Amino acid sequence: MNILLRIQRLTRLPNKKSLEICKRYTNNDRVSYKNKIKSGPGLKEFIIGNVDPVNTDVPYIPYLRQNLLIPKKRKIYFDVYGCQMNLNDTEIVWSILKNEGFEKTENEEDADVFLVMTCAIREGAETKIWHRLDHLRGFKRRAMKNKNRPVKIGILGCMAERLKEKLIEKEKSVDVVAGPDSYRDLPRLLALTDNGQTAVNVLLSLDETYADVVPVRLNQDCISAFISIMRGCDNMCTYCIVPFTRGRERSRPVDSIVEEVQQLADQGVKEVTLLGQNVNSYRDISKATEKTNTSVAKGFRTVYKNKKGGLRFADLLDKVSSVDPEMRIRFTAAHPKDFPDEVLQIISERPNICKMLHLPAQSGSTAVLDRMRRGYTREAYLELVDHVKSCIPAVGLSTDMICGFCGETEEEFEETLSLMELVDYNTAFLFPYSMREKTTAYRRYEDDVPDHVKKERHGRLLEVYRRKSQTLNEAEVGNTHLVLVEGVVKKTGQLYGRNEVYMKVVFDEGEIMSDDGGKRAMRIGDYVAVKIVGAKSSVLSGVPLCHTSLSEFYRERIWGENSIEL
Ligand code: 5AD
Ligand code: SF4
Repeated sequence: MNILLRIQRLTRLPNKKSLEICKRYTNNDRVSYKNKIKSGPGLKEFIIGNVDPVNTDVPYIPYLRQNLLIPKKRKIYFDVYGCQMNLNDTEIVWSILKNEGFEKTENEEDADVFLVMTCAIREGAETKIWHRLDHLRGFKRRAMKNKNRPVKIGILGCMAERLKEKLIEKEKSVDVVAGPDSYRDLPRLLALTDNGQTAVNVLLSLDETYADVVPVRLNQDCISAFISIMRGCDNMCTYCIVPFTRGRERSRPVDSIVEEVQQLADQGVKEVTLLGQNVNSYRDISKATEKTNTSVAKGFRTVYKNKKGGLRFADLLDKVSSVDPEMRIRFTAAHPKDFPDEVLQIISERPNICKMLHLPAQSGSTAVLDRMRRGYTREAYLELVDHVKSCIPAVGLSTDMICGFCGETEEEFEETLSLMELVDYNTAFLFPYSMREKTTAYRRYEDDVPDHVKKERHGRLLEVYRRKSQTLNEAEVGNTHLVLVEGVVKKTGQLYGRNEVYMKVVFDEGEIMSDDGGKRAMRIGDYVAVKIVGAKSSVLSGVPLCHTSLSEFYRERIWGENSIEL
């Protein structure tokens, strides 16, 4: 192999730099190079040495340790884009960096490092992030020019893997690029930037779950928290980039999840949301079980082979909901294929598991679902909805829908509209299709629905959704809901919280009856029984009746002794 190529492979330096080294050892003195190698550095120099292994005259810090002696506490400013999983990933990153002596700031002017947690799911999400990067680039230039202060920019998450070349070569100002599975490497990557290098790690892992990293919550006052229970996705829906940016599906061991729920309960957290791309296909394979229930429900298919053994989502729900009966449990996102009866049963039995299921349909047309590779038909989906409703009375439902997917005809779109009419969704996330590179749809289909048609279909979907959710909400007027108080509405000073199906409920603050027969003011983190008196499509208004607890509220509801009245 020629020497230039060999040096390039070993050092991974760009052409020009490799050529310089090559010239040094070819023109100058091949023999002396060989001699240097013979009498040259040993293994220990390569690990913690302080001598350049190639040019022994130059003091050099080749690896981690000395670089990691951070001279001053560097301050990080976090920017989070995208889903709740990104928020939780940022809490994992913050935990890792806090351990290494970094600090956090909410003030751009104080920041030494900007870390941007990115999302690549649709073009719109990426566009927002490019605008933010423009701003940060200007900020970085000004900090250097006016204050001689070096500021670093790091790109984390889903855009990192997808756009690493563009981010580094074209944008130039990005110093660190770290994909979703390389956050443990961030202290090293940031240390490398001290020497002016750009540091990149976008390797995807088959087993990284950050199980041993206890996330540090960005908002410590919040009474709800997120817990990632699994990472990646194996479903390979044809429109979706997630399997490419986040890699293969892997679940975090059950014990570490239960431990985290316990810690959060001890800190006074009242609600946890279990997170993953497809939480209901959770499977802790470190636990051997006799259960061989491996196949998905009738009418549903997967692109991967049936997975065998291990603890499953129903087992996890059982354990997590047993930690603290006063802790509300939610979960997202789910796939309709993974709702076996065991899962539905445990949800219906446990008062603290919210009776709210995310059943992302994506489309109401069997032909479109087939092109999307969702693994079910319209009919199978509707049967599932009926089954879920019969197993969990008063269940709330939410969905994701895409309009304008490749080849979607007007008739096919109308089937989506009719599905929205048929199923009473409390919440729906509606998206115009956005073609993503690397996906199967990108390779196989044409993005042939014009933008104005996508926009128009999106508007029609929104209209049906708003009308229907308004009707659903109006039907709640007069009913009493259990609301967990979350905060204060800035404009009006009223309190707000969420009911069981995650609908926002607002009500006046004040003193209400408590368990001891006296009165006390409502605080964030209290469970309050609220009578609903008004409804819009995305918010309810109510009158608070009394303080209560989760167990008390549902005991009243189950036994029909509804003593909670105005
Ligand atoms: N275009 C539009 N929406 C998408 N989603 C995923 N990929 C795309 C895409 N390329 C939506 C799906 C998914 C949600 C998280 O984002 O509805 O459920
Ligand atoms: Fe994407 Fe489909 Fe996986 Fe959801 S289930 S993350 S839509 S590939």
